[in-house]
Amino acid sequence: MPKRTRTLLLAAASMLAVAHLVSAGPLQDDLKARRARAMEKLGADSVAVFWSAPARVYSNDVDYEYRQDSNLLYLTGIDQEETTLVLMPGNRTKREILFVREADARREHWNGHSLTPAEAGAASGIETVLTASQFEPFVAAVLSGQAAPALGQRDEAHAFFDALEQGRAKLALLLEPQRTLSDPSGPNRQFAARMRDRFFGFEIRDAAPILGELRQIKSPYEQEILRRSVAISSDAHKAGMRAAAPGKWEYEVEAAIEEVYLRSGAMSWGYPSIVGSGPNATILHYQKSARQMHDGELLLVDAAGNYQGLTGDITRTYPINGHFTDTQRDIYQIVFAAQEAGIKAAKAGAHVQDIQNACDDVLRAGLVKLGLVIEPTGTQFKIWATHGVTHWIGYDVHDVGARTASLAPGMSFTIEPGIYIREQALADLPKTPENAAFIEKVRPLVERYKNIGVRIEDSFLLTDRGLENLSAGVPRTADDVERFLAANGSR
Ligand code: GLY
Ligand code: MN
Ligand code: MN
Repeated sequence: MPKRTRTLLLAAASMLAVAHLVSAGPLQDDLKARRARAMEKLGADSVAVFWSAPARVYSNDVDYEYRQDSNLLYLTGIDQEETTLVLMPGNRTKREILFVREADARREHWNGHSLTPAEAGAASGIETVLTASQFEPFVAAVLSGQAAPALGQRDEAHAFFDALEQGRAKLALLLEPQRTLSDPSGPNRQFAARMRDRFFGFEIRDAAPILGELRQIKSPYEQEILRRSVAISSDAHKAGMRAAAPGKWEYEVEAAIEEVYLRSGAMSWGYPSIVGSGPNATILHYQKSARQMHDGELLLVDAAGNYQGLTGDITRTYPINGHFTDTQRDIYQIVFAAQEAGIKAAKAGAHVQDIQNACDDVLRAGLVKLGLVIEPTGTQFKIWATHGVTHWIGYDVHDVGARTASLAPGMSFTIEPGIYIREQALADLPKTPENAAFIEKVRPLVERYKNIGVRIEDSFLLTDRGLENLSAGVPRTADDVERFLAANGSR
């Protein structure tokens, strides 16, 4: 059984041991509420279909560890392939219909037990659970206005059938984004095209904005899971700090971090660990972890585990020998002050752009003061501060949800300013007289600060009580970082 399925399946199995069809519990209650909210937004004239993620090949006959589609996980809690959810919000009683794969003794001997319909029903709180082979006949019946056996009387789906007859029904799917006209259609778009060819009376609706809006607000249940997820990741960062020392390798720090995920019951990483020492600290998504660390260098660690589907996002940057040099501290203090400004701006009613602006003002002023930037206004400082400072977190580390939404309780996001001094950045500037003058002026400073990369990133949750830093347990001020390193590890 893949590691990531353990927790959900163990929970389901333990319920089954008590009573065969118990479908109650805080997770099931939350799942039901999520589906109810989705159905409210979809409306009575809709049928919506959500698929599980396919297995993905690692090489030859070996797959990657299975990763469920985030939307299906959000709506069902089921972490199993070949699972499909149909929502029919206008139905009289059977508004949720789940399809799971058939039992297969040989496959289960090799790969482990598959959820039976009864088990999937208990795990998800969905009462109508059918097998995968019943999906096509079900959809064909529903889209042609006929009672599907699983729904019983035709009257069960009267709202959808009325809408179909009147040509105002909707088939809601998670349509894959298409950037250009030549982008190939993904599986949902292909399904939409096939259905449009064969059936009438409905239009296709993209369900992605609805799911984005719902997932953007974490329920109290999800907030608890996210707190636990980030607490595990915080412990993992501290384990990484203990493991770092001159002469050690980046992969040793990565191993110390990921060990904490696994022994804490997290399913896996939420994104591949970034453990970059020396010049690697200036590579935003460095993932090789293959370099030996040296005295006098910084180590940038960006890592978080996936606990029961939810992922935080934490970065700490620290001196491998336990003490910041003056130049490292100069950059660190600017990034720290920028993050503090971002934290102050992150209030209910504000927008992510307010957080970005607050961080930018501090980054710009700090870099001007050091002499690495000469324009006191404008975007020249983005040569060194190259990425956005906030994104939503949740089922995906870069979670769904509109960036234009105003901040509200239940939203979770990062604040993560960074400065990366790469000599190459100067060579990459367009060849203009202004840039030539800029390069001439800042070159000595770049020489002094080159290869320093600092990002400080925490995972936040906005609640009725204000902003909660879920990763506050990981030392963050330069002094706290040094104190922690002095008290821990083999430096
Ligand atoms: N870990 C990726 C990011 O910070 O956005
Ligand atoms: Mn991030
Ligand atoms: Mn990160």
